[in-house]
Amino acid sequence: MTLTAKSVARVALVSSLVAATAAAAVIAASPAMGAASTLAAAAQQSGRYFGTAVAANKLGDSTYVGILNREFDMVTAENEMKMDATEPNQNQFSFGNGDRIVNHARNQGKRVRGHALAWHQQQPGWMQNMSGSALRNAMLNHITQVATYYRGKIYAWDVVNEAYADGSSGGRRDSNLQRTGNDWIEAAFRAARAADPNAKLCYNDYNTDNWSHAKTQGVYRMVQDFKSRGVPIDCVGFQAHFNSGNPVPSNYHTTLQNFASLGVDVQITELDIEGSGSSQAQQYQGVTQACLAVSRCTGITVWGIRDSDSWRASGTPLLFDNSGNKKAAYNSVLSALNSGTGGTDPTTTTTTTTTSNPGGGGCTATYSEGQKWNDRFNGQVTVSGTDNWVVTVTVSSPQRIIATWNTSATWESADVMTARPNGSGNTFGFTVMHGGNWSWPSLSCRVG
Ligand code: XIL
Repeated sequence: MTLTAKSVARVALVSSLVAATAAAAVIAASPAMGAASTLAAAAQQSGRYFGTAVAANKLGDSTYVGILNREFDMVTAENEMKMDATEPNQNQFSFGNGDRIVNHARNQGKRVRGHALAWHQQQPGWMQNMSGSALRNAMLNHITQVATYYRGKIYAWDVVNEAYADGSSGGRRDSNLQRTGNDWIEAAFRAARAADPNAKLCYNDYNTDNWSHAKTQGVYRMVQDFKSRGVPIDCVGFQAHFNSGNPVPSNYHTTLQNFASLGVDVQITELDIEGSGSSQAQQYQGVTQACLAVSRCTGITVWGIRDSDSWRASGTPLLFDNSGNKKAAYNSVLSALNSGTGGTDPTTTTTTTTTSNPGGGGCTATYSEGQKWNDRFNGQVTVSGTDNWVVTVTVSSPQRIIATWNTSATWESADVMTARPNGSGNTFGFTVMHGGNWSWPSLSCRVG
């Protein structure tokens, strides 16, 4: 059937009336928006994690452990899985302290980021004195042994840490590992993939936050090259150690987005921001919002719990004070996580009803939220009042419907999908790529 001009006009009128009804219903149905009261729960609303660095020797401190267990759902060993800790003598491995952290995390239902397999710092003495192929082989053996030992327990490994130079060169940092040959980084990633095929493999560095810095560009080109040649890399970690000399850049979102667009996840891996009060809180909020705005930014880790736990304790750079009280920075991160990207993140699984067909005839379409992922969400619509329905689903830019089920779908435009029965009953579903926009689709329903 072809639509006449007259019937098109009528549909448009119905849609606009219904859009107003739908908007009112959404607001009324979501009073609990932004209700999560811990960092982890707030981050989980958008499929992200919120982690912290943990020191094994603090696991007996009840204040520390209380905050850890309550607030965080991802853990990084601050020092205990580094090369000097895990292989103090060549080919003698030591996992006791790493295990303490991994076991605590797993017993509490938390995931673990592995840190770090290859780095020019915190190498054991025996390795510092090595060079050439002996060092290359020792590094690869280390990666193989450690990643194999922890196989299945690590969400993401920092395979290589801090391999780029500061300053304007945009090139590699000189180190004993670099002197084994420029391909040492890709060799490290290949060894890690072979040892633990299910862990995400990250390159991790600092001073890579500002998009216009040469170091950022250098790392970007390496990741681009690795992706084009099939070197196994899944993610880029941004350490994010900030202070007044190295403030949060205003283009942080751009940096994260550009890396993500290469086809890797991005993560904030060691966040701390020196300062206090509202200025510190605002910078924390900016970093959190930059991550939330990038669908492939999968989570944020702060580098310690209380200020006194920090490697830079005098700069009071963390979210809890020395006594374990929440700071202003904590509140700003929590509220940023709760309000999502556009302030419209639906955080509850409430159901809203939109009734259309103002002329009568009994057609009601009810929307309910389905599963959510970093980059997409599912929605479900149940129609009542008629078996002969026509439901129009309108998403808002940059959202796109990428799949439908239990309906016969046609598209009026990129944003507007018309659903009709296909014999599967009166409930149908669809998947929306949200592009950072979590707002609900609006619905209209008429008798067909
Ligand atoms: C730091 C730890 O916090 C300190 O306890 C340790 O003395 C030195 O290392 N970049 C990294 C982290 O990747 O491993 C570092 O952690 C901080 C900088």
